[in-house]
Amino acid sequence: HTEYFVVDKDHPDQGVLGQAAELLKQGKLVAFPTETVYGLGANGLDEKAVANIYVAKGRPSDNPLILHISHIEELKQLVAHIPNNAKVLMNAYWPGPLTIVFRRAAIVPDIVTGGLETVGIRLPDSVVARELIALAGTPIAAPSANISGRPSPTNAQAVLVDLEGKIDAVVDAGNCQIGVESTVIDCTTPVPTLLRPGGVTLEMLMETLGEVEMDPILSGSFELAPRSPGMKYTHYAPDAPMVLVEGEYPQVLELLLKEVSAALTEGKRVGALISGQTADKLPVGTIPFVYGMRENVEEIAANLYLALRNYDDHSVDVIFAEGISEEGLGLAVMNRLRKASGYRIIKG
Ligand code: TXA
Ligand code: MG
Repeated sequence: HTEYFVVDKDHPDQGVLGQAAELLKQGKLVAFPTETVYGLGANGLDEKAVANIYVAKGRPSDNPLILHISHIEELKQLVAHIPNNAKVLMNAYWPGPLTIVFRRAAIVPDIVTGGLETVGIRLPDSVVARELIALAGTPIAAPSANISGRPSPTNAQAVLVDLEGKIDAVVDAGNCQIGVESTVIDCTTPVPTLLRPGGVTLEMLMETLGEVEMDPILSGSFELAPRSPGMKYTHYAPDAPMVLVEGEYPQVLELLLKEVSAALTEGKRVGALISGQTADKLPVGTIPFVYGMRENVEEIAANLYLALRNYDDHSVDVIFAEGISEEGLGLAVMNRLRKASGYRIIKG
């Protein structure tokens, strides 16, 4: 049985959050909102509790978890060293959608780091997340609260679709604001290395740090040994196979229409994950999901996982997705779409 708590996003009831925090203290699993996506939380210093996260999600045990803290003071006990670059990033972007990878302290259990000598730490901006962590009185290990390989949940309903009955509770505070996961940056390298694009954009990191290395996997060469273990697994995938169509407008539109028409002609049921610009141009018979206007990347990011989960209820044979520009948050959106497509990509 999964307990269900509802709180206000900005002024959560302390009594209700206290009940959820009590479950975390007892070693139970509690899904909770952050500004990026919903996380599946457990006491990050309790090996048994953390082990249950992997079981509930069906997650490979070599894929490390992020430790979430409620106050910057909690960082010191968890890491061996705080490099200067990390201090600069913390000042600029914490609390917020940025996970920083540090050398770990001995107190961090192996099960959290997947055996690595490093640990990813994040101080979320969400008031609900921070107050819950503070009430639990311990760092909270939390991956996204989905079955491994599925799109991340951006509301409590999506959490329950995947994990109802498998976790002890969910705290519902409505939709997540950003909609894609935090940026992951490794500060153990001389020049910080971007491992996962997210809410803090590459442009923002460059502006703050001067230089940033890109992990080779981000340029699509996914055969290379991944530095972030999570990179090698299938991710965010809808139930039906998805093909990503990349390019600038209107070339991307022409290519998308050609592919959709060909699939319809073959008698397939076709889904199309598209922009507002494309919405009225699709052939009859296509099952569309509009993720937002091309120029509004914040809106697209916020709708992305709803869009990928939308086709779970339709029996489509194939989904074609319209790619967008990689500027700003667009890099994170395109990274998730490429992974969700299993790198089935057509370029204009
Ligand atoms: O926005 C987020 O980051 C959400 C919310 C709940 O905070 N969490 C999240 O966790 O997305 P998860 O487990 O789904 O993704 C964490 C990513 C994985 O790709 C993992 O491999 C990477 O961070 N990661 C964690 N610790 C790492 C480490 N020590 N070194 C390299 N990569 C690490
Ligand atoms: Mg995840």
